[in-house]
Amino acid sequence: MSAEAARFLNSFAQALATMALYADGHPARERVVNASYDQLRLLQELDRKPQFSFLGLDVIYGQVALRELKEWDWGQRLANAGVQRLEFAESVQRDEYEGFLDEVLARLTLGAIDSATRSAERVSTIKFGAVGVKGSEGVLRPEDILPTATIRYSLGEEAETIRWLHDEVQSRGELPLIEAESVVRSLAVAMHGDRDIVIPLLQLKEFDQYTTTHSLNVCVLAMALAEFIGLGTKDVRAFGVAGLLHDLGKVRIPKDVLTKPGKLTDEEWVIMRRHPVDGAKIIYESDRQLDLASAVAYEHHIMINGGGYPTRHFQRDCHKASKLVHICDVYDALRTKRPYREAWEAERVLAQIESGAGPDFDAELAQSFIQMMRQWERRVAFVDDKTPLPHMAPQGSAAPPAATADAAPSGTVSALATPGSPA
Ligand SMILES: [Fe+2]
Ligand SMILES: [Fe+2]
Repeated sequence: MSAEAARFLNSFAQALATMALYADGHPARERVVNASYDQLRLLQELDRKPQFSFLGLDVIYGQVALRELKEWDWGQRLANAGVQRLEFAESVQRDEYEGFLDEVLARLTLGAIDSATRSAERVSTIKFGAVGVKGSEGVLRPEDILPTATIRYSLGEEAETIRWLHDEVQSRGELPLIEAESVVRSLAVAMHGDRDIVIPLLQLKEFDQYTTTHSLNVCVLAMALAEFIGLGTKDVRAFGVAGLLHDLGKVRIPKDVLTKPGKLTDEEWVIMRRHPVDGAKIIYESDRQLDLASAVAYEHHIMINGGGYPTRHFQRDCHKASKLVHICDVYDALRTKRPYREAWEAERVLAQIESGAGPDFDAELAQSFIQMMRQWERRVAFVDDKTPLPHMAPQGSAAPPAATADAAPSGTVSALATPGSPA
């Protein structure tokens, strides 16, 4: 019977993972929901009311730990998202099961911040929630649950998708929107697979991968900041898409200009400064629904005092998302080692943002960003696109992205991407 239970839980995790990647109504989603529901019905032929507890690394079925799932990390993710106990009634319908999966996915991907305080939920025939769900035997103590899970993500697939997406835009001029949105969903899952939020920032390995790495990082930072200032899920995701696509116009910049290790000539600057307009056009022409992402691509180098580029004929306020992405953009650019300068330490970048608050950056958002990075410093995880087990930043410091970052002599930063330069 435990083999059936393990099979069901595997199908359950498979369904959640797939649902995180595909929008409602996608056939891939339907397939995994059906498969998992069938597994549940098979299990229920043997055990009419199956019960599960997710306790640290252990997955308990009824009263028995499932050895088959020793390496299964979903138990911990579920527990961290406030789903520590799960009970099915006899008569679970397929639609109810799908609704339940949606709810669990929302918990995994959304406000993990307050998941610990959430009360138990009821989906008619499926009970789930924190330990000690009413009516269940053997209440589990919260302290039995491991405090913090190390995120087990590399961002390999996401990075690969973004590389492919940039190639597509470059060669065909069209933006594959579904893939862009699945990357954002997948990053949201990576950020909330733990009890608290995790900010996974990709480390740059090769200089020519800068745009990919930078797009993913700005997306993650934009979602984190949007969440930090209390925006709802829909806005958080929309800001994420905008962050991901803000530099899309760079696909039109010749590679030798884009990766030039040194100061740009005036002509090269003219080319470089076209990317906001080009990006906005590509996005808008691909999908009119993406007007927010298009606006952000256009406005992300415009400063509060009207400086930056593109130059506008009359002064008007930029969208909040543009102001927010602008800050995340500069943060990631300065934190990354470039051919012409070393990476800056986190604190130095935050000081730079603080000093630019008002004229360059929206003062309130800049303050929120600084507050967020200090508060969530230990939640920043530096990951790469290969290593499956990233490490968390050491306590009390946001680790520099490059070993040489701390030792960067001040003389090497003359060509800095100061706010307003192409980040
Ligand atoms: Fe840019
Ligand atoms: Fe940028």
